[in-house]
Amino acid sequence: MVTSKKIILGKHFDGMPQESDFKIVEEQLPPLKDGEFLAEAVFLSVDPYMRAYAHNMNPGDVMVGTQVAKVVESKNNNYPVGEHVVGKFDWRTHTISSGLASEVAGAGNAPAPYVIPNLSGLPLSYCLGVLGMPGSTAYFGLLDICEPKPGEVVVVSGAAGAVGMIVGQIAKIKGCKVIGITGSDEKGRHLVDVLGFDGYANYKTDNLDQKLGELAPEGIDCYFDNVAGEISTTVISHMREFGRISVCGSISSYNHDVKDPPKVGVVQFYMYENQLIMKGFQNYLYKDRAAEAFRQNLEWIKEGKLKYMETVTEGFDNMVKAFIEMLSGKNLGKAIVKM
Ligand SMILES: NC(=O)c1ccc[n+]([C@@H]2O[C@H](COP(=O)([O-])OP(=O)(O)OC[C@H]3O[C@@H](n4cnc5c(N)ncnc54)[C@H](OP(=O)(O)O)[C@@H]3O)[C@@H](O)[C@H]2O)c1
Repeated sequence: MVTSKKIILGKHFDGMPQESDFKIVEEQLPPLKDGEFLAEAVFLSVDPYMRAYAHNMNPGDVMVGTQVAKVVESKNNNYPVGEHVVGKFDWRTHTISSGLASEVAGAGNAPAPYVIPNLSGLPLSYCLGVLGMPGSTAYFGLLDICEPKPGEVVVVSGAAGAVGMIVGQIAKIKGCKVIGITGSDEKGRHLVDVLGFDGYANYKTDNLDQKLGELAPEGIDCYFDNVAGEISTTVISHMREFGRISVCGSISSYNHDVKDPPKVGVVQFYMYENQLIMKGFQNYLYKDRAAEAFRQNLEWIKEGKLKYMETVTEGFDNMVKAFIEMLSGKNLGKAIVKM
């Protein structure tokens, strides 16, 4: 008999999630049936969408999420013992799976668990970041929607996080001038000094309107929006004719009641005046092309063109802490929990 731990929603969040909103629960797992395997978590992901998704959850539901897990017992030849898999196994230490996408509760469009291929020696946790969902989000959201051209000016908000950091570096690879928006000077300096961004604005301390005017007096061609709200309204007001906006996320609104979202300045004037295009997307739209992003991001890492970092929290019991810290901006790069 295996004892598994899971983390459930204790009560609905009121603003920023609190430790007291969650409960850790133990459960005994039954013996495996034919076709099933038992996966033990190795790395777990904490992501902003979990905060947004919680609006659809009820107290008692297990927190949703993806993890890298090791197959420790198996009655399914596709998932041999000892292999590592990426699966939508939620906030659990142990999961029984039969490898089907459809069995996953609350998974939305999550794919079936897959065995991790050869990563050329890179950490397995990268499959939750640059070689996983955030990496393909950055790749397709920038290249397919913004279509950046050499010499153009690209601005990315949430720039020092899992998605934003990759977006900025891909834009540099494509020959663009890149400006990141983030919430601390330490993160901003990292973007410029380590990752090669051309400049940054600190949305907490800078006058963003003035700073963007200084950093991009020529105007902005592409905006990759991770945050929404006033930050985005200000960026859009600096865009040049025929600019493109990729709407990836709206983290500045996630702690608000869905029925009472933040009120922000009107962007329509800038949209029609400069004939801008704005398109929202969800990562799963590109699920049939996920291998392309995986291959290209891996190649850029191996060539030294794409640098990648993680903020790692140790211990399953610290999942909640890692989640709250990520939402509060304590992470540089991808927020990961290591068992
Ligand atoms: N469309 C899709 O399919 C898709 C897929 C993945 C992610 N996303 C979205 O992409 C965005 C980034 O996700 P991620 O995984 O890369 O997370 P992340 O950037 O690694 O972590 C979240 C970051 O958001 C920033 N933040 C928090 N509150 C903020 C606020 N009120 N205003 C501005 N920034 C704030 C914090 O950085 P600072 O210190 O800079 O404030 C924090 O570190 C999220 O909106 C997420 O929902 C969308």
